[in-house]
Amino acid sequence: MAFSLFSNNKKAILARCRDDYATKMRLKYAPYYLAMEAQSGTQVRLNGRDMIMLSSNDYLGLSFHPKVVEASRAAVLKWGTSTTGARTSNGSRTYHLELEEKLAAFTGREACHVHAAGYLSCMASVATFAQKGDVILADKNLHSCLWDGIRLSLATVERFSHNNPANLSEVIATVGADTPKMVVVEGVYSMEGHICRLPEIAKIAEDYNAFSVLDDAHGFGVLGRQGRGTVDHFGLNEKVDVICGSLSKSLASTGGFVAGTHDVIEYLRSHSKQTIFSAALSPSQAATAMTALEIMQTEPEHHEQLWSNTRKYRAILKNLGLDTWESETPAIPIVLGSKERVYPFWKALLEKGVFTVLSIAPAVPPGKDLIRTAVSAMHTDEQLERIADAMAYAVKKL
Ligand SMILES: Cc1ncc(COP(=O)(O)O)c(C=O)c1O
Repeated sequence: MAFSLFSNNKKAILARCRDDYATKMRLKYAPYYLAMEAQSGTQVRLNGRDMIMLSSNDYLGLSFHPKVVEASRAAVLKWGTSTTGARTSNGSRTYHLELEEKLAAFTGREACHVHAAGYLSCMASVATFAQKGDVILADKNLHSCLWDGIRLSLATVERFSHNNPANLSEVIATVGADTPKMVVVEGVYSMEGHICRLPEIAKIAEDYNAFSVLDDAHGFGVLGRQGRGTVDHFGLNEKVDVICGSLSKSLASTGGFVAGTHDVIEYLRSHSKQTIFSAALSPSQAATAMTALEIMQTEPEHHEQLWSNTRKYRAILKNLGLDTWESETPAIPIVLGSKERVYPFWKALLEKGVFTVLSIAPAVPPGKDLIRTAVSAMHTDEQLERIADAMAYAVKKL
């Protein structure tokens, strides 16, 4: 025992874990990893109190839809809980192929591949296709899974200002004509709620023969016909090479997808480590996503309700003079500018029974410290009124 304590003290990495400032602050203020005791739709219970969930990505509110819940249950009974293997070896099932065909058709692509996490899909969408010697043009505000993909690819990265085609134009013009290029953007930026300026960005990518990757985790289900996503919203299906996304938002499941041409998806199946060496999507994850996808096409009321709630919620924030970073979508940040302002605001909302998530630099650019909120089709008018009261209360606490 004495020896092990002595040797542990000499381990630099153990000391790093023990002394880490960010971890100490997180444990002291405890804003993250809060475990809810119960949930029913947009209502959750935390520390014995019922609260309104205002930061989930369940945009269409399908996670408690009876058909979705039943499909998930039936899939477990039919297929068991897990395939316990990668698709390359023992983990492929016909339901994977069915889901992939449906997602490909819905997004207007030839082919699709699904993974057990959106993070894997989006990381793979970059890491698989770019390599050393290539140049990746990346929006400065990309999600961390895309940055991981960029790093893993060993390509050179050039950042351009957030959602700024003019700056992309300037940066891409400096890259050698013969250098293979990739442009990486998000359809809807998850923190900001901004819609990608895709018409201009896709045109620049095309002019410079750059392969384009669009992460539509937050555009899928939200934008476009029946929620087909950002590319459909702009009618630019021919202009984007890869669409990747998550099953954990509008599709009320967990998992992710990559969609593109047959050549691109078969190349991914040959070369992507995230695809070859990770266990397949589980039966219930797939059945949930498949049923939610069907509902998106047969029950348009969820999409309509989402946008009606978005308009009402945005008006509440606007009336209070809050800065929503010009969000255009249901993902709406409340920018407060410093952690000293964000924390009491978040606490005040919690006190009034509204659950949100705080995000501070370096997770967001300096001066953009914010409360991340997202409205769902499932929020009722009565809940929106309670949210309005809670917001007014939090504003007074600033
Ligand atoms: C833009 C974006 N891409 C990818 C992901 C990863 O998706 P998942 O949570 O399904 O792994 C997220 C999730 O937060 C996201 O916001």
